[in-house]
Amino acid sequence: MNPKKNKLWIEMKNLVRKHYQKINFERLSDEKFVENNDELLIIGEEIISILKKNIKQTKIFFADICGAPGNYSKLVFQHFKANGIGISLPPEKGGVEFEMEKYTKYKIFYRDILEKEYDLDIPKKLNLGIASCVSYEIKNSNAYQLNLKLILTSLLILLNNLEKNGSLVINLTIKNINFAFNIVYILSKLFKKTSIWKSSKVWPDKNTFYFFGFNFENNQKYINKIKELLLILDNNNFMKNIYFRRLIMNNSNFKIIDNMMNKLYKVKIDYFKKYN
Ligand SMILES: C[S@@+](CC[C@H](N)C(=O)[O-])C[C@H]1O[C@@H](n2cnc3c(N)ncnc32)[C@H](O)[C@@H]1O
Repeated sequence: MNPKKNKLWIEMKNLVRKHYQKINFERLSDEKFVENNDELLIIGEEIISILKKNIKQTKIFFADICGAPGNYSKLVFQHFKANGIGISLPPEKGGVEFEMEKYTKYKIFYRDILEKEYDLDIPKKLNLGIASCVSYEIKNSNAYQLNLKLILTSLLILLNNLEKNGSLVINLTIKNINFAFNIVYILSKLFKKTSIWKSSKVWPDKNTFYFFGFNFENNQKYINKIKELLLILDNNNFMKNIYFRRLIMNNSNFKIIDNMMNKLYKVKIDYFKKYN
């Protein structure tokens, strides 16, 4: 039971090693962070098409965490009858601004979700939770740690406010493959239907992928594991922790996730093969 023995994973790793210098991590312009709306709209359209196939409600209430400038939220309004909220880092703390002036059924909250005990201020449970947090600490060697903190914090906020049978889409990362397997496993215990997906059109060279969960079932045992993981991330030695070094599932669950992961590996392989 070792994800690193998967043939496609090995092929992907070899290609990444060979073409590493081709990956572009730069998101700075004039010392300010910028988001690429064109790219976000393409990936957003792809995400929405998956949501539309699975969400049957005619009217939805959603939250979009780390949502600025608001491409995914705009697409939700275009494709669903919706009310929603967007939460994102205040511009004075380095966050990008929302561009959602025209959307009257959307409430904006500029908040740093890493501030202690942040929770949503909403009148009812969510039908849909979206999170796509990315840290702006690109040059910082702790960027991975910060990204994971953002991902797990946004995840817990959404799960805490999601209605039974609600839906979730969140960005995850395959940077550490054991962690990726473990978090997908934990999330698969919280939703009746789950899938993972990586766009071949936008950021095919990056470690980002998306997890989709439908029909949420609150299961405290697994929510507690996410809380435990978040605490582990306070320690700079987090990579030595079991969640980053071993798998916490049995062999049959490993096989299911290993199979799901193949399609992510293929996206990266196909992208880097162009350079061979
Ligand atoms: C990739 S962008 C999201 C793009 C958005 N999904 C869209 O469709 O336009 C990542 C967002 O995370 C936000 N962010 C980063 N750190 C944050 C934090 N600590 N609290 C809240 N938002 C944060 C950034 O300001 C940025 O708006």
